[in-house]
Amino acid sequence: MNKNIVIVGASRGIGLELTRIFAKLPDVQVIALARNCTKLKDEFSKNTRVHVFSFDLEGDVHDQLAKIAFPETGIDYLINNAGCLIKKPFEMISGQDFSKSFSINVIGVMQTVQYLLPKFNSTFSHIVNISSMGAFQGSVKFPELSAYAASKAALCNFTELFAVEFSDSNIKMNCLCLGAVQTEMLEEAFPGYSAPVSANEMAQFIADFTLRSGKILNGKIIPLSLSTP
Ligand SMILES: NC(=O)c1ccc[n+]([C@@H]2O[C@H](COP(=O)([O-])OP(=O)(O)OC[C@H]3O[C@@H](n4cnc5c(N)ncnc54)[C@H](OP(=O)(O)O)[C@@H]3O)[C@@H](O)[C@H]2O)c1
Repeated sequence: MNKNIVIVGASRGIGLELTRIFAKLPDVQVIALARNCTKLKDEFSKNTRVHVFSFDLEGDVHDQLAKIAFPETGIDYLINNAGCLIKKPFEMISGQDFSKSFSINVIGVMQTVQYLLPKFNSTFSHIVNISSMGAFQGSVKFPELSAYAASKAALCNFTELFAVEFSDSNIKMNCLCLGAVQTEMLEEAFPGYSAPVSANEMAQFIADFTLRSGKILNGKIIPLSLSTP
């Protein structure tokens, strides 16, 4: 099918599983971005369709992306999967913590989309943002996640705003709000908690959603959880 996909936050957890899934599809070029690239490069060293680049959403996003040769045929899919979870009592969250959370979870994403705008496939492309149930209106909230959930909520809001502003274009954008998934991030934030969904299971869903849903949905914020109390 000759498609090009960019995955931001591809080095571990759900992003690594997404990279593995797309790497198996014939005729798909994968541009995999993350800060820690050594293991990614090793794993895909023999797969000429996976291209790994170092990328930090906290750095100069446009400058870093300008150094990457994106496929001339255009980007068909972008998954903004990278995330930063800071879990601290509200009084203990520093200005740096707030800046880091918002830089990685929303501002860096918006700048990535800005830079890639002219590089998307002019016929059709689908951007999928990965947010959290903690950012979904009306869902149960947990303490100590102010910086994380507020920045992910901003990502949800951006999705709606982008879809309106680009409604006449062929670029579609949707946002998935994930419930608990068994990854390093979850284990670091909630040690000992066992999630009902594995990183691979969630990545399978996100991969299917990315490939199939852009022609049907635009600007939607979708909860992906066994319950939305
Ligand atoms: N796991 C869950 O239960 C859960 C629930 C709700 C939402 N989510 C969301 O789902 C997404 C994936 O979560 P996960 O559990 O797989 O997380 P993870 O294991 O911590 O992986 C996060 C990915 O983001 C990348 N990343 C972090 N900071 C970055 C930066 N400054 N620049 C570029 N990339 C960066 C990491 O790579 P490097 O460190 O190599 O840069 C890594 O590849 C996140 O957006 C998360 O918020 C997860």
